[in-house]
Amino acid sequence: MISCSTVTKSEIRVHYDLATTFYRLLWGPHIHHGLWQADESPAEAQVRLIEAAAACCGLRRGDRVVDIGCGMGGSSVYLAKHFDCRVTGVTLSPVQRLWASCGALIRGTRGKTNFLRADAERVEFPAESFDVVWSVECTEHLFDKPTFFAKSARWLRPGGRMMICAWLAGPEPLAEADRRRVYDVCEGFLCPSLGTAADYRGWFEAGGLEFSTYEDWTDRVVETWEVCRRRVEKSRVRSLSAAVNRNMTLFLDRFTTILDAYKTGAMRYGCLTARRSLPRKESSLA
Ligand SMILES: C[S@@+](CC[C@H](N)C(=O)[O-])C[C@H]1O[C@@H](n2cnc3c(N)ncnc32)[C@H](O)[C@@H]1O
Repeated sequence: MISCSTVTKSEIRVHYDLATTFYRLLWGPHIHHGLWQADESPAEAQVRLIEAAAACCGLRRGDRVVDIGCGMGGSSVYLAKHFDCRVTGVTLSPVQRLWASCGALIRGTRGKTNFLRADAERVEFPAESFDVVWSVECTEHLFDKPTFFAKSARWLRPGGRMMICAWLAGPEPLAEADRRRVYDVCEGFLCPSLGTAADYRGWFEAGGLEFSTYEDWTDRVVETWEVCRRRVEKSRVRSLSAAVNRNMTLFLDRFTTILDAYKTGAMRYGCLTARRSLPRKESSLA
């Protein structure tokens, strides 16, 4: 794991409060990478990532899902609409909560979605209240990842699944230049740390889950940053961001750093899943 001690939680919240409108204009309702298969549009690639993540964790129609770090509710609304899921979205940002609630209203999923403004590291849900813990590109922002995994594993019913899409540090040992690249990404994108795929596996297992799958999607997501870089260059986002705050400019400047980190192997992008085991009697009948 590579850490950046300068990141604070209030900076993360302020970033999402301020930047969500930029994300919406630059990238659409999802704040995550696209997953390319051919020459589809960025919007199609973003939906493909959700579909692929749903397939990885064996999402079923009607599942009760908690969407940790739900952003503007892009995944939550999609899962409610296309999989008939009941989704509770959690975001640190009050502005995003508002975007998510409005999005659900407009897309007709208000009865199946519920959005909370809460810190995922502090929020509590009753034990066994969800079939799926779903998190796309949020765990990078958590400060105490092992404790979060142990806690959220208890929210799953036996047989429930956890699905995490995450920016990952490349496998150890990393060369010094690659460690620096990952550090710069952490600093620019406000991640207190980036774990390796092996770290995530360890956190699942320490939380009492059975590790199921890891898919490395790096080569299929990297186009995201080429598109974003082109869109920033063509638009007035950079001059607007300078008027917002210094972190926003640093964030835009690090688009090249992240591209570089993916291309050199310093960083990977992965979808990881795990399962809460069934009690011994039920699993032998299953
Ligand atoms: C990169 S965005 C991903 C958003 C969403 N999952 C999507 O794919 O569109 C990261 C999200 O994590 C949320 N986040 C960061 N730290 C958090 C925390 N401690 N508790 C809850 N949400 C958090 C941010 O508010 C933001 O919504």
